[in-house]
Amino acid sequence: MMTQTLNVELGERSYPIHIGCGLLAEVDLLVSHLKQKKAVVVTNATVAPLYLDALRATLEKGGVTTIPVILPDGEQYKTWETLNLIFDALLTAHCERSTTLIALGGGVIGDMGGFAAACYQRGMPFIQVPTTLLSLVDSSVGGKTAINHPLGKNMIGAFYQPKLVLADISTLDTLPDRELKAGLAEVIKYGLIRDPDFFAWLEVNLERLLERDKEALAYAVHRSCANKAEVVAADERESGERALLNLGHTFGHAIETGLGYGIWLHGEAVAAGTLIAAELSSKMGWLAPDAVLRIENLFVRAGLPVHGVALGSVRYLDLMRHDKKVLDGRMRLVLLRSIGEAVMSDEASEPQILAAIEARCTPTGR
Ligand code: NAD
Ligand code: GLY
Repeated sequence: MMTQTLNVELGERSYPIHIGCGLLAEVDLLVSHLKQKKAVVVTNATVAPLYLDALRATLEKGGVTTIPVILPDGEQYKTWETLNLIFDALLTAHCERSTTLIALGGGVIGDMGGFAAACYQRGMPFIQVPTTLLSLVDSSVGGKTAINHPLGKNMIGAFYQPKLVLADISTLDTLPDRELKAGLAEVIKYGLIRDPDFFAWLEVNLERLLERDKEALAYAVHRSCANKAEVVAADERESGERALLNLGHTFGHAIETGLGYGIWLHGEAVAAGTLIAAELSSKMGWLAPDAVLRIENLFVRAGLPVHGVALGSVRYLDLMRHDKKVLDGRMRLVLLRSIGEAVMSDEASEPQILAAIEARCTPTGR
């Protein structure tokens, strides 16, 4: 498979996304981006045994000394305490402002590694090496970095762009099925918010993705990253269009925070949240009922939840008020006008929101 390259166009902070198979072994792709022959590789206890040695060998071939930082695995560790372990390692190894931090792992590692890089000595270069479908198609691109707070997900963070995204599709070989499916939620999202042809392609090709057909995966990663790169280039700091990438996330974050981090996967919560948003869009007379059915069918085929957990409507609303899109106390939600057209709106009334939550939640969800 040919390596393909996309660019995130952000002026002097522009960077490439290389997409292909076996890229972890490509010395020049990585080493040409390092300012110093020293790099810190932040990863976790699951990913380290799979890919750390390979990445270190590549870097060492390019004359780069590596310092591994192996964190505990899980969304529940996306905390200040874990972040501090990265700072401990950076300081212990006398890392400088020009040392590069490489985040090797899924979205949790990418978000935490990126935030550590943004803070260390007020900013050190960092590189994203995503290894889950979700991080390949979404979290590694665009520079959102964060940790969670017990009261709200991703509430503490920074916009901080990587220098490079190395999207090695081969890493998906070892990804558990449940994680692959969770990543599909964010892939489907691009079709729903701005790319109806991609949604139609997914309706035809979903099983190829579930079977891990490399060509299909590379196509889906490329098309997702192309969508994301366009949105980020147009609205890096989310003053407009970028917020549409949060379709389903306001409801989804409420599920994740309400149940306790790590119980539902992020992509699973986003899937259920997307169906609540579609239900609400339909109740407002915006989205046709047959479109809701098409969306539900695709998520069901992807093995993703189409119902949220009944946390209690009051609890949902309370959790949703911590959303970053709340403006002057007014809740703003991403809703759908059709498949391929999302809008940001504060027009949904509280009774309509509650009705959509009640229609789309069951005691255990899914
Ligand atoms: P994750 O990082 O927890 O990874 C999922 C699991 O897969 C983990 O157990 C991990 O160790 C394991 N894993 C990773 N790569 C593997 C591989 N190749 N083989 C086997 N196991 C592997 O979860 P995720 O779904 O990648 O990311 C979710 C996180 O991303 C959430 O915290 C979410 O808030 C964040 N996120 C951020 C953005 C953004 O723009 N920054 C966008 C979407 C999601
Ligand atoms: N994942 C949403 C964003 O990057 O804006």
